[in-house]
Amino acid sequence: MISSPLSDFKHEDFHLAQLFEDNDRFSEFSVSHENLLLDYSKNFVTTETMGTLIELAKEMGLTDAINAMFAGEKINITENRAALHSACRIPEEKNSNTEIVSCLKQMDSFVTAIHSGEWKGYSGNKITDIVNIGIGGSDLGPVFVCDALSSFSTNDIKPHFVSNVDPTDLDNVVAGLDPATTLFIVASKSFKTLETIQNAHAAKNWLLSQSASPECIRNHFVAITTNSAAASEFGIQEQNLFPMWEWLGGRYSLWSAIGLPIALSIGMNHFRQLLAGAHSMDKHFHSTELRKNLPVIMGLLTVWYTGFLNAHSHAVVPYSQKLQRFPAYLQQLYMESLGKNVNKNDEPVTSNTGDVLWGAVGTNAQHSFFQLLHQGTEFIPVDFLGVIKPTSEGNDASRRQQYLLANCLSQSLALMQGNNDSSDQHKKIQGNKPSNILLINELNPYNLGSLIALYEHKTYVQSVIWNINAFDQWGVQLGKVLSNDVFKAFTESGSNVEFDSSTASLIKQIGELLND
Ligand code: F6P
Repeated sequence: MISSPLSDFKHEDFHLAQLFEDNDRFSEFSVSHENLLLDYSKNFVTTETMGTLIELAKEMGLTDAINAMFAGEKINITENRAALHSACRIPEEKNSNTEIVSCLKQMDSFVTAIHSGEWKGYSGNKITDIVNIGIGGSDLGPVFVCDALSSFSTNDIKPHFVSNVDPTDLDNVVAGLDPATTLFIVASKSFKTLETIQNAHAAKNWLLSQSASPECIRNHFVAITTNSAAASEFGIQEQNLFPMWEWLGGRYSLWSAIGLPIALSIGMNHFRQLLAGAHSMDKHFHSTELRKNLPVIMGLLTVWYTGFLNAHSHAVVPYSQKLQRFPAYLQQLYMESLGKNVNKNDEPVTSNTGDVLWGAVGTNAQHSFFQLLHQGTEFIPVDFLGVIKPTSEGNDASRRQQYLLANCLSQSLALMQGNNDSSDQHKKIQGNKPSNILLINELNPYNLGSLIALYEHKTYVQSVIWNINAFDQWGVQLGKVLSNDVFKAFTESGSNVEFDSSTASLIKQIGELLND
């Protein structure tokens, strides 16, 4: 535990509902930036608590850490790299990073060529379908944003995504496609990730098996990578390579050429609006005093609950069908960044760090895990996200939208208020459970950019308070290495590694059936 006056706090002594006897509570504990409003009044905070949390942030050097990130200092200390995702969002006319500006130009020309039909498939026809092959940060951001902004599509090109090495993933996607009008984007910062490389080879084989000649690779494969040598060896032409940079983490990369499926789907103008919205959140984060700073407040609240009140998880529940993939996207952003047990001084951490982030779309989630939020024994703060304007104009849309948002607000209210009226113990609902409400005026590229950047910066705030590195992911590497050893054990070449009896027996069992 971090030692601070906050450590004496007992949340049983705190009654959220009673705090609202102060009629000004909402105005004190809400803050907005452009089209985003955060109401954090239904949290275990008073003016003093917030003051103490801000003091903690200052003690941990948050302002300097924010400046260091924007200045491009090598804050990813274990890899000696900067974390410059925010630089990708600086408008081109003001952006001094020539690599970013030239990459946007390259994306622009490519998107124009695909949309206009100037870029043709091997049979001379226009591309109609794009398949992004990538995993983790090379998949989750693009698939989430393409889905969220599908109504902003400027053309009839359909984006598809393949990430899992399970053969069913690629097979299902290509089953409905015509190879002559399909373009594959191999998205891999390293161009070494097992799933992506295996899927890329399988996609190439599929294309070639459909009577296309090897030269057709040039019209049907592009790649985004830092490893141009490996991509060239795979057969991708130099002019079809888009850059990625060491200073851009995979989970922070949808703003770069990794966002190509987004740009192809919604057009470059909308893609630039996405960047502009994120840039606006960057400026807010960089220059707004801590007490009014959205990512800082949200980060401190999670530090409060995780570090001091022993919360093991928090839920993110978007009340918007278009944001249904947001929790999955956030899981990588948040847990790959904050799942660390050693601090920046190479010492074991002394407080809880990254909690589990989970969630699903509302109202559906009310009929699955909400019972546990209301009456379970775990302490689980919730972020409710609401989009005010309907994202569909269907029959009676505004009325159904009112039902949707009524549910969003009433769940937050129910968590806070509970219901102690019943004499039946089973029907008693304690309440006194904290939540945030984040309202977004409407879902468009600009506001979505702001929303994503808000969560990126919230994640960074927590890493600074916990003094951990948010930009490496060594834990993931171990699994990658071991999976190669096990794979070899399945194959004829075998593995020299001696496995424990559990792994060895399972390898035998699987091998017998697979090689049958
Ligand atoms: O999941 C681990 C990870 O290294 C992520 O950080 C990254 O987004 C993903 O793998 C994919 O990596 P690459 O883009 O190099 O294929």
